[in-house]
Amino acid sequence: MVLEAIRYTPGNLEILDQLRLPHESVYIKVRTSEDAYHAIRTMTVRGAPAIAIVAALALAVELTYTETNIESVASARDFILEKLRYLVTSRPTAVNLSDAARKLEKLASETEGSGKAVVDAYINAAEKMLVDDVSDNTSIGENGVAWAEKNFGTEKFSILTICNTGSLATAGYGTALGIIRSVHAKHLLEHAYALETRPYNQGSRLTAYELVHDNIPATLITDSMASVLLKTHPEIRMIVVGADRVARNGDTANKIGTYQLSIVARYHGVKFVVAAPTTSIDMLTASGEDIVIEERKPEELVTMRGPVVDFDGQVNKNEVRTVHIAAPGIGVWNPAFDVAPANLIDAIITEKGVAEKDSNGEFHLAKFF
Ligand code: MRU
Repeated sequence: MVLEAIRYTPGNLEILDQLRLPHESVYIKVRTSEDAYHAIRTMTVRGAPAIAIVAALALAVELTYTETNIESVASARDFILEKLRYLVTSRPTAVNLSDAARKLEKLASETEGSGKAVVDAYINAAEKMLVDDVSDNTSIGENGVAWAEKNFGTEKFSILTICNTGSLATAGYGTALGIIRSVHAKHLLEHAYALETRPYNQGSRLTAYELVHDNIPATLITDSMASVLLKTHPEIRMIVVGADRVARNGDTANKIGTYQLSIVARYHGVKFVVAAPTTSIDMLTASGEDIVIEERKPEELVTMRGPVVDFDGQVNKNEVRTVHIAAPGIGVWNPAFDVAPANLIDAIITEKGVAEKDSNGEFHLAKFF
């Protein structure tokens, strides 16, 4: 079975319900921008590239079946702009969504002729984003392997990662998990370690699912085990993480816990690498200080949802429960992301090449644009 977070044919968009993974694989239809907004906000679909593509394609599907309000060039543009502005408010940190919206808005504003011409141009561009993301990810994987061979030679090594950055977070293959896939395909991977990634458990639910699916040798650890893992496993040469937004100076916002990984990597002399398509680089944001960090509701931290385990240890998929795991009444802080500072990042691996710091410790990301 191919792992696909997004299934699209013209006029039809389905997403894999990531709230039900790993125990159930259920696809749900996304027919409108409102459906996409809800799916992104509830994390039914998540991961920076995936949410951008689902938002763009949901509007493409909606436009396919819309007859009124798009007859003239002006009304079609207004319709598209209003929907895109609504969609970007679903989650604030990942730049891929606002980057996609800005490109699609520009296209709609520049297309002339008729309302249909504007709609057709929009749909073609949204469909291209889906195709481009997969090829960008395989290029990131190739660039990641080349960078690893340059730094570690041809000896096998192990990799630690956080969150889910694989097929489920993208249109396919993945970014940081894509590099793990490529290193494994090249027979260079000793072992992959996945952090559980509290509070939403993208590591234990989703990355673990992908690693098992692909038969990649892998072990799950809790977030608090990262330092001692590096201390006791010198064969781990690299921590690779994804990105929700890379600022102009290289500061990188990614899943909460990424910042502490960048610190422990430096302490233990392990390379800390960001894998991201150039759609995750935000040249309009100067540094991590300017990145808005999404805070999510306390329930994600104090509850857990999953199928009940029967007395004989069997997972009972038919009985899914939410359980409370903290003292009732305790206050909660739940930032979804943090920022790894550029000075702790060794390389930013994109589909267009690898950025490393110059002798002054500066990344020059403008070269990719
Ligand atoms: O809250 P999530 O699950 O959307 O967070 C996802 C991440 O932090 C990923 O590392 C990032 O979006 C890159 S996915 C290729």
